[in-house]
Amino acid sequence: MIRPHGSDVLNPLYVSNSHDREQLVQEAAELPALTLNSAAAANAVMLGAGYFNPLTGYMSKAEAKSVARDMQTLDGLFWPIPVVNITDDVAPIRGASRIALRDPNVQDTPPLAVQDIEGIDELSDAEMNTLVEQIFGTISEKHPGVATFKSLGRFIVHGPIQVLNHSYFEHDFPNTFRTAPAIRNEFAERGWNNVVAFQTRNPMHRAHEELCKMALEATGADGVLVHMLLGQLKPGDVPAGVRDAAIRRMVELYFPPNTVMIAGYGFDMMYAGPREAALHAVFRQNAGCSHFIVGRDHAGVGDFYGAFEAQEFLQHHVPSNALDIQIFAADHTAYSKKLGKVVMMRDAPDHSMDDFVILSGTKVREMLGRGEAPPAEFSRPEVAEILMEYFQNQKSD
Ligand code: ADX
Repeated sequence: MIRPHGSDVLNPLYVSNSHDREQLVQEAAELPALTLNSAAAANAVMLGAGYFNPLTGYMSKAEAKSVARDMQTLDGLFWPIPVVNITDDVAPIRGASRIALRDPNVQDTPPLAVQDIEGIDELSDAEMNTLVEQIFGTISEKHPGVATFKSLGRFIVHGPIQVLNHSYFEHDFPNTFRTAPAIRNEFAERGWNNVVAFQTRNPMHRAHEELCKMALEATGADGVLVHMLLGQLKPGDVPAGVRDAAIRRMVELYFPPNTVMIAGYGFDMMYAGPREAALHAVFRQNAGCSHFIVGRDHAGVGDFYGAFEAQEFLQHHVPSNALDIQIFAADHTAYSKKLGKVVMMRDAPDHSMDDFVILSGTKVREMLGRGEAPPAEFSRPEVAEILMEYFQNQKSD
C-alpha cells in the first residue's frame, strides 16, 4: 500500500492507549482551557485521525506563512493549507504551557485535545489578508471560507497536541466516520492495494457514479473509496446524514459488490478550491489511496475558481515529487443524449452542450423541493427519492 505523506508509518495523534487517554482526560479537567472554534477543532480531529500525518500539532505564524506562501513547512515538507489554532481570546490561557482544548461542537464543550503551548503569535490585519489571499485566492468575504477564516481571531496558538476523541463524528456517523488507519486496515482486509478516492460534499448523481466507475476502470484499481466530508458546510449544502443515506443507496443498487467502500472524515469545508484539492490529495494518501479523482470545480464555491483550476493546480503547481498519490483528472461528465450514457465531454468532441443532460445545482434543488424527481439520466430515482424527502421536509419546517 502507498506510504503515508512525509513518513514511513502513520502517526495519528489520537491517544489510543485507554489508560493514557483516561489520565489525560483527568489532567485536561484541571488545565487552563481554550474553547476552540469549529475550524481549529476540525484540525484537531484530522490530526487525531492520522489524516494530517506527519504533523504533530498546530502551526506557528512563521510556519503558517511558509505553508500559505510556498506550500512547504519550515522543514520543507509539502503542505498546502496552514493547520492552525487561531483564536480571538487568549486571556484564559495566558502564561500557560499546557492547556485543554474544548470542543465547540459537542454539548458542554468536553476536552477534545491537550496542547503544549510553544508560543502564541499575533497576526496583523495585513498578515491575515496575505494568508487568506494565498490560501483562497481572494479576500472577498462573499467567499464562505474566507468569511469563516477571517472571523477566527488574530492569535495563533501553536504547539503539539494529543487528541482525546474524534468529536461528534464517531457518535453521529458511527457507520461512516473512519480514521486513516482504520481505512488502511479495511483496504488490507479487502485485499485492496490500489484504491481510487472520490471526495464529496454533495449527494452523488449519475455523473458522479459514472466518474467513479470510469476512474476505477482507467486506473485498474481494486476499488473506490467514496470519502465524504462530515463536518460543517455552508448554508444550502445537503447535510451529511442525508447525503450519506443517498450515497449508500446508490452504491448498494448500482455498483458491483465489493468495489466501493464508503467512509467519511471530520473536517469543515473550506471551499478553498485548488489549495483544498491539494490538501484532499494529501489526506487521501494518508488513508492509503493510490489515486485521487479531481474533476470539475473541485472544492469550489460560486465563481471563485475556474472549472478546472484545482486539477491544473495539482498537475502544474504542486511539485511533481510532493506526493505519491496520483491525480485522476476528470473532465466535465454528463449524460449524452446521443450516446445514451454518461461520458466525459472530452470523449464526445462532436457534441454541443444541448446534447448533454446538464442541470444546475439550483435547478435540481428546486425540482426536489417541488417533489419532482430530476430525469433518470441525471439522478437515480432511488437517490432522488431520499433527496426529495429531505427538501420537502425542509420547506415545511
Ligand atoms: S467538492 O466540493 O467536494 O469537490 P462535489 O461533491 O460536488 O464537491 O464534487 C466531488 C468531486 O466530483 C470533485 O472532484 C468534483 O470536481 C467532481 N465533479 C462533480 N461534478 C462533476 C461533473 N459533472 N463532471 C466532472 N467532475 C465532477
